[in-house]
This record gives sequence, structure tokens and C-alpha cells, in this order.
Amino acid sequence: MENAQTYKEKSASTFNKQAANYDSTYCGRHAQMLYSHVMDTMGRYEFQNVLDVGCGTGNVLAGVLKKWNVSAAGIDLSDNMLDIAKKRIGEKADLRKGDSENLPWESNMFDMVICTDSFHHYPNPEAVLSEMKRVVKPEGKIIIADPWLSAPFRQIANLFMPLCKDGDVKIYSCNDLRKLLQGSRLNLKSWEKSGKNAFIAVIGICPSGIVGV
Ligand SMILES: C[S@@+](CC[C@H](N)C(=O)[O-])C[C@H]1O[C@@H](n2cnc3c(N)ncnc32)[C@H](O)[C@@H]1O
Repeated sequence: MENAQTYKEKSASTFNKQAANYDSTYCGRHAQMLYSHVMDTMGRYEFQNVLDVGCGTGNVLAGVLKKWNVSAAGIDLSDNMLDIAKKRIGEKADLRKGDSENLPWESNMFDMVICTDSFHHYPNPEAVLSEMKRVVKPEGKIIIADPWLSAPFRQIANLFMPLCKDGDVKIYSCNDLRKLLQGSRLNLKSWEKSGKNAFIAVIGICPSGIVGV
């Protein structure tokens, strides 16, 4: 496996280049197919504020702010993606440049953390989940939407990921996600497919003392 920094550099460079035309790229179109399902899933829960990890050009946050009277924050590794998000959303969201492994917010701040089509870029997914858990309130929810492939296509794709120039790390099965959560005091509340090539998972926090999925 390449080192974590290499994956992050590839992701930042890819999305810096793609930013201006992101909505018409393969990645952009894949993400767009998820937006309404992500928002429907968010709508199942009460929330006053939300953090979008890997927010890209701010498409989801723009939709959230249009639909709900909530406060919003976002973080992304790519300057150019974030610049577009800032133009799109302006002062209405707290948008910061940074790495999902080190979220620059205080603990227990958010009712909801969302992550659309970004999780498969993370070389240290446990570290990201741990940060998401830190910033979300005990009753809050983490919603991850990401690419999905059936076996054996997933295994084959995962073999070639280190060669990919876009900084993709891994396509997760439901079981892979469960394994990542094991022992983390995070609890997989639901996992559903979204279209043919994606999933949406809702993750909650286990009450103190109860560990498992
Ligand atoms: C396919 S885009 C998805 C953008 C947006 N969530 C959407 O749905 O349109 C993936 C995004 O994840 C960001 N990203 C990748 N690795 C990251 C990391 N370690 N920390 C923060 N953002 C990251 C990329 O810069 C890119 O903007």
C-alpha cells in the first residue's frame, strides 16, 4: 500500500484539477446521483447543525441550507474545490481547508456528520471515523455515502487502487465497514444500496459501556 501522504497528495491534485468542471466529470456525476438519497436519509433525523467531511464544491451543503434552517460546516483537502464551495455558499457555512483525519472543530459539536463520495479516498479510515465520532454529539448520526461494487468486481478494483492516479484507496463492502467499526463505540444502524454503484450507511454512537456493531 502506498503511504497515506501519497494518497492525499493524489486526491488533492486530482480535485484541484477537476474542480472547475467537477459537476460534469465521472466523479461529479457519481456524487450527484447520491445527493437526493443522502438528503432523504438526513431527513429521517432531527438536526440543527451538520458537518460535511470532504464537502468538495459544496453541492450537498447548498441543498441542505436550501431545505433546512440549520447551520452548516464543511472541510476539504482541495483548495480549488473549496473555493467553488465558498462561492456557492458564501458566509452561510463554516468552510475550512483540512484533512478529514484532523477535524478542526471542538468535540461534541454536531448533530450530524455527512460524507458523500469521499470516504474511499481516506488512507486511514479508522482515524477519520474516530474524528467523526469525536465531533458528533452522543445522540448524533454519521452518514456515509460511497461507491459500492459487488464481489468479485470490488476485490479486483481494490487490487488496482494503488495504481489509480486519483487517490482512491478502497471500495468498501458492508462487512468491511462493520469491521472498521468494531471496537470503536460506533454502531452501524443501517446500510442500504443507492442505485447500482453506491451505498449509504447511517452510523450512531454506542451508549457508554456498550461496544459493538
Ligand atoms: C468525489 S469528491 C466528493 C465531493 C462532495 N462530497 C460531493 O459529493 O460532490 C471527493 C472529495 O473528497 C476530498 N478529499 C479527499 N481526501 C480528503 C481528505 N483526506 N480530507 C478532506 N477531504 C478529502 C476531495 O478533495 C474531494 O473534494
